[in-house]
Amino acid sequence: MPTATSTIRPGGPRRSSWRVYLPWTDGAGRFSFLVLVVFLALLTPAALLALDAATGQLGPRPWNLAIHRVGWWTVMFLMASLAVTPLRRALRWNGLIGVRRMIGVAAFTAAMLHLVLYAGEQAWDLLKVSSEIVLRIYLAIGLAALLGLGALAATSTDGMVRRLGGKRWQLLHRLTYPIAVLALVHFFMQIKADITQPILFSGLLVWLMAYRLWRSRIGDPGIPGLVALAVAAGVLTALGETVGIAWVYRAPAWSVVQAHFDTAIGIRPAWWVLAAGLAVAAAAAFRRQPRRVIA
Ligand code: HEM
Repeated sequence: MPTATSTIRPGGPRRSSWRVYLPWTDGAGRFSFLVLVVFLALLTPAALLALDAATGQLGPRPWNLAIHRVGWWTVMFLMASLAVTPLRRALRWNGLIGVRRMIGVAAFTAAMLHLVLYAGEQAWDLLKVSSEIVLRIYLAIGLAALLGLGALAATSTDGMVRRLGGKRWQLLHRLTYPIAVLALVHFFMQIKADITQPILFSGLLVWLMAYRLWRSRIGDPGIPGLVALAVAAGVLTALGETVGIAWVYRAPAWSVVQAHFDTAIGIRPAWWVLAAGLAVAAAAAFRRQPRRVIA
């Protein structure tokens, strides 16, 4: 859950100012439309869940449906927080940094709600909740991810950034990567049949990590590099799904490969990953066009 020293800007209010924590101000404490829109977007799933709960729309097992919905959003927020830096760099959109802390804190809050809902499903029997966590490895993995997110949320204030120092803070916040992996393992392990969703998120994580690797080893990927990353992430996603399904369901690998081209069974995650990567490349190409100056 990266927050950043770069959200602390000289010239704005004092670093400790409460204004920078308002859900409509940027790191300098000024009103930001982007921050407000992201804040409302982060609140929407909780508002819809509350509405569905209040109107009895959560089906015969409301706690379980709520657990699944909030779990899904937790992964979504976690991925979004990891996407901020690559998108900021690829699209040359520095303003994005102003929403990173908020998205990270939203991921932690959603994970906490997910755990609370699980306790609710277990009739608030905390002894049972604890023993289930010990007995079921996928729950223990989920808890490890939640604790990691908690550590990142606790160190996300400007004061903590200063206390830890930029380097140590950045090192600590690299924990987001193993946390995302744990979250996806938890996602895979609780699935009974269709692994489409966790495969899709895994493919997106591959792109996010590959972008970081490219940038740290080679430098800015440029537009051709972004296209290459999109293709590589798409191919790896297809490979992962093929190997996974062939192994788990003992299905012939060739029929899984063919399924990637069969639109009758829906568009497979690899295509979505490719499309997302190419969309970033196209947006980056657009943003990097030299602006025409009108005399
Ligand atoms: C960062 C931490 C966590 C993340 C990202 C996460 C994410 C998820 C996701 C994505 C799902 C499946 C949603 C779907 O089917 O669409 C799920 C299911 C579930 N999670 Fe978590 N989870 C986390 C932590 C926990 C913890 C700490 C617990 C409880 C101790 C927990 C208990 C469950 C349960 C019970 C299910 C449903 C399993 C079933 O119905 O068979 N999760 N979680």
